[in-house]
Amino acid sequence: MRIVLVGPPGAGKGTQAQFIASHLSIPKISTGDIFRANVSGGTELGVLAKQYMDKGDLVPDEVTVAMVRDRIHQEDAVGGFLLDGFPRNVPQAETLNAMLAEDGLHLDRVLQLEVDNEEVIRRLSGRRTCSACQRIWHVEFDEGRDDVCDDCGGRLFQRDDDKEEVVRHRLDVYEEQTAPIVSFYDKEGILLPIDATGSVEEVTARALGALRS
Ligand code: AP5
Ligand code: ZN
Repeated sequence: MRIVLVGPPGAGKGTQAQFIASHLSIPKISTGDIFRANVSGGTELGVLAKQYMDKGDLVPDEVTVAMVRDRIHQEDAVGGFLLDGFPRNVPQAETLNAMLAEDGLHLDRVLQLEVDNEEVIRRLSGRRTCSACQRIWHVEFDEGRDDVCDDCGGRLFQRDDDKEEVVRHRLDVYEEQTAPIVSFYDKEGILLPIDATGSVEEVTARALGALRS
């Protein structure tokens, strides 16, 4: 199955991606995670991406698209994948369709995670990410997980772009540039809107239920 996850920052895309992808035995491909790995590795791509990410702006399409093209052609993604954070605007969505069509493929489903801005701010202000395995935690909702990852013992960190003013800008960028892909996929008849409030487990169950329907 080839699936895209879309939703505002903090909707729970990364959190759900890790569970849905493992349930379906497909790789989770997060453009945000790939950029962050390059930033911490100090690569040329990381240096470039950081300038945009720190402000909450999108990294230029040509850079992002080339990275995704390369990733979805790797061995583990041949049978399917779950994209988290890509596409992020209509040109990226059109390019993804064209890229898949070149291989005689298409997207099966687009899961849209719906939450309001108040919940987004609450979720992002308490988010912690594992520096070793990238697992996402929350200081309030995952009690006691504010320092060390329960899964692998890695150090947890707070993302630079989770500062309040950057979060507000990321929400504006979502509304202006990313939200239009929702109607793009709705017109294609592959959009599945999911209520992303409630517990992580409830949202995963809704998403898996919708994918089975
Ligand atoms: P990216 O990493 O994709 O960030 P984002 O879209 O802003 O989304 P987030 O990762 O902030 O949120 P999420 O929805 O994954 O929420 P999470 O699961 O962590 O992108 C970062 C940057 O990279 C961009 O700004 C851009 O610069 C660049 N970039 C990436 N892709 C790009 C592209 N395609 N084109 C151009 N630039 C690109 O959850 C948040 C918190 O809530 C966590 O603490 C979690 O534990 C908690 N939580 C989750 N679900 C629940 C729940 N049900 N109940 C309670 N708490 C919950
Ligand atoms: Zn970890």
